[in-house]
Amino acid sequence: MKRFFVILMAMVMMAGTFSTYQDVQAAEGSLGSNVPEHLTLTWTDSPETTQNFTWRTSTDVTATSVQIMKTSNYEGSFATSEMVEVTGDSFTFDSDEGAMQVHEAKATALEPGTSYTYRVGNGQQGNWSEAASFTTEAAGDRPFTFLFTTDTQSAASTNMTWGYGIWGDIFDKALTQYPNARFMLLSGDVVDRGDEQIHWENWFKAAQEELPTINMVPTMGNHDVYGTGEKNFAAQFQLPENGPEGEKEFAYSFDYSNVHIAVLNSEGDLQKQAEWLKQDMAASDKQWKIVSFHRSPYHSHPDRASLDVRNAWTPVFDEAGVDLVLSGHDHAYMRSYPLYDGEKVNQNKGTTYIIGGSAGPKFYEMEDQPWMKVKFDKDKQIYSGVTVDGNELQFNVTANDGETVDGFTMVKEDPFSGRNFTEWGENLATSEKMKTWSISLNTNIEESALKADHVQVKNSNGQQVDVRLAVENDDTLTVTPEEAYEPGTYYMMIDQNVPNATGKALKNNIRAEFQVE
Ligand SMILES: [Fe+2]
Repeated sequence: MKRFFVILMAMVMMAGTFSTYQDVQAAEGSLGSNVPEHLTLTWTDSPETTQNFTWRTSTDVTATSVQIMKTSNYEGSFATSEMVEVTGDSFTFDSDEGAMQVHEAKATALEPGTSYTYRVGNGQQGNWSEAASFTTEAAGDRPFTFLFTTDTQSAASTNMTWGYGIWGDIFDKALTQYPNARFMLLSGDVVDRGDEQIHWENWFKAAQEELPTINMVPTMGNHDVYGTGEKNFAAQFQLPENGPEGEKEFAYSFDYSNVHIAVLNSEGDLQKQAEWLKQDMAASDKQWKIVSFHRSPYHSHPDRASLDVRNAWTPVFDEAGVDLVLSGHDHAYMRSYPLYDGEKVNQNKGTTYIIGGSAGPKFYEMEDQPWMKVKFDKDKQIYSGVTVDGNELQFNVTANDGETVDGFTMVKEDPFSGRNFTEWGENLATSEKMKTWSISLNTNIEESALKADHVQVKNSNGQQVDVRLAVENDDTLTVTPEEAYEPGTYYMMIDQNVPNATGKALKNNIRAEFQVE
């Protein structure tokens, strides 16, 4: 009898996988089944070496397990010695639609720049998710792409014209255009009613194919905080807890390659977050600085002006040299001129403000504003692909029918801008294409703790050159290119955190400029 029940359940599950866009109906008292749903990837720690997994089941399932292995070793089975099993914790979340069990696990000690294949479950056969893959962040400052969209809020359905099916479709199109994108930044109004779980049920369902393959970076919007919506948001995403007290997981920051990204909660305590952001930005030496939150300080229509946000946060963006601010809320696309203190300035001095349109059924009118450089208010859903390659940032915006909405490039003249450093030498010339630079420090170097990004070499276009690091005579660092240098100007950054016995070998970062003839 029991066996029959299991087979029947399996058939129901299979039927479920063929009807991706079937609406989720309100359940009777409880949500979920034995099989994981609502699987999401996020980070609370380094994207190079860790990966968080969150999913839900019915409350009958409390054990939490992830089986993970390198994709290069995966041949269709996890039953191999290459597989690592990670256990996690679960808790019961009581939503207005009923209770469900939320499972949280974190894989650590992953290798940078590596594809992993995994599945999640409770460790019992029949209760595993489908196998899916993701890729960790590469070591060093490597080029990468991320996706950006906003306002996925819809009716509580997976309908493709007025429900969350629109969001699933936009997500799929964005990933088709940018298959190597590393995360999806969503700047708020994820759902239409944050406290009504039926919205989340349909939101997750519509993106169930995409969510297990790419990290999410979600932002809180005014619709997400409806009622007690913060609870649904916090329960369903594991996010960094490095934000200010009272805003943890709603305001946070992380680094990816040479970019520092801060997410703020425009529905929370603006002043507290301004103070936190000032410290957070000052502590970062990343070349690019991006901030995302829901309500833009520079609106596309006076009806949606958020002067409280403008007054509280734009002075911090000016001081910190924030390059891009990505927002939503207006359901129309706008790109501002680079602004400093509200005035148009050139790109290297100001912040560009973008309102990312809509990934749901709702569109609003625009009205000309003095800060608008590009506007697009056709009633089409859009998504953006943002590629950062050294000192160049490429931003492309595409509509759901393939129309190009906007495209622009930002270039920083200094490949290590954003970092404080002491200049070591200028115009050191060499005719050797395989030149090994030897740098003697006044202290012994802990070779075992030396990492690839402790010394980086970039050309004048900001592209990273692969180098091999070694230690000679205990205190001399040698830097050799993997392939011959092309003629040109290069910049070498030696990180102050080059390790010695007490942890840190240098007082400052050191930059050397050299020429290869
Ligand atoms: Fe909004």
